[in-house]
Amino acid sequence: MKDKLTKLFNEASEALKDATKEGQIAQIKTEFLGRKGKITLLLRGLSDISPDKRPAIGRLANEIKTSLEEKIRASLASIKERQKQERLAQERLDITLSGRKVSIGKKHPVTETCNEIVDIFLGLGFQIIEGPEVESDYYNFEALNIPKDHPARDMHDTFYISDEVLLRTHTSPVQIRVMEKQRPPIQIIAPGKAFRCDSDVSHTPMFHQIEGLMVGNDITFGDLKGVLTIFAQQMFGDKTRLRFRPSFFPFTEPSAEVDIQCVICQGQGCRLCSSSGWLEILGSGMVDPEVFKVVGYDPDEITGFAFGMGIERIAMLKYGINDIRLFFENDMRFLGQF
Ligand code: PHE
Repeated sequence: MKDKLTKLFNEASEALKDATKEGQIAQIKTEFLGRKGKITLLLRGLSDISPDKRPAIGRLANEIKTSLEEKIRASLASIKERQKQERLAQERLDITLSGRKVSIGKKHPVTETCNEIVDIFLGLGFQIIEGPEVESDYYNFEALNIPKDHPARDMHDTFYISDEVLLRTHTSPVQIRVMEKQRPPIQIIAPGKAFRCDSDVSHTPMFHQIEGLMVGNDITFGDLKGVLTIFAQQMFGDKTRLRFRPSFFPFTEPSAEVDIQCVICQGQGCRLCSSSGWLEILGSGMVDPEVFKVVGYDPDEITGFAFGMGIERIAMLKYGINDIRLFFENDMRFLGQF
């Protein structure tokens, strides 16, 4: 019996050495120490042994069982430890690896420029108003003193939706909508999209304008010059020189186009300014009495000025961009530069 016990103990110990998985250990445990295990069954025969030898064998049996259980615990622990080490090795992070760059979005240069222009006029006390992009012939032309057969309509390359409905060709219709609803004093700007059927380096079918309108009891051309000078100098630098050049718009009289001294050559003459030294930035003028009559204001009492500028044009001058279409091609190499 003693020999058999030792043999079983050795057998179990060998089996444990070869075991690499938790399942195998559990199996060995059942095989030797389980209710029907080899050692358990052997010890059932203890009662057949003569009583004088029983205690010694019993002690040995207990030692062997304890020792085997200890070995089983140790094997299990070492397997668990090995699995943990393997898992850690797999989860290992190489913290010296350089990270992946996350590209952060930003505002479109047209939006950026628009916000900048709006901020300047907000600082001068102007209020922001918006009007519809799909407009009636009446607000876009008729009320602005541009009747159906007026040659000025040729300048606009209008997208018509029907005879009476069109995509607004400028933000000036907002002037009419505001004056119809409000009495003077009025001091608003109206940023938004405008549309003309035209496409080349300085025109896109959709572009942006900011309209300005200031109306009251004694608004003069001096106010127009003052406001637009402050605007241009805040936008392009406080040394910026301005030129008010006589022009024509059916809804302003007198009218002026405003030029700034060329941002590239400072008036010396270069390719950007076609050797003139000046760059046109906007159209403006004193609101025509005919327009006041349309909205029911008395032109003898009320005066005002209006202006309209292309936002892309301002952005092009500010950032030195020579093709307006770049704004709308969504090339990240271009947009990422702002
Ligand atoms: N609406 C004109 C244009 O688009 C600009 C303008 C606005 C001129 C207001 C005078 C007064 O060309």
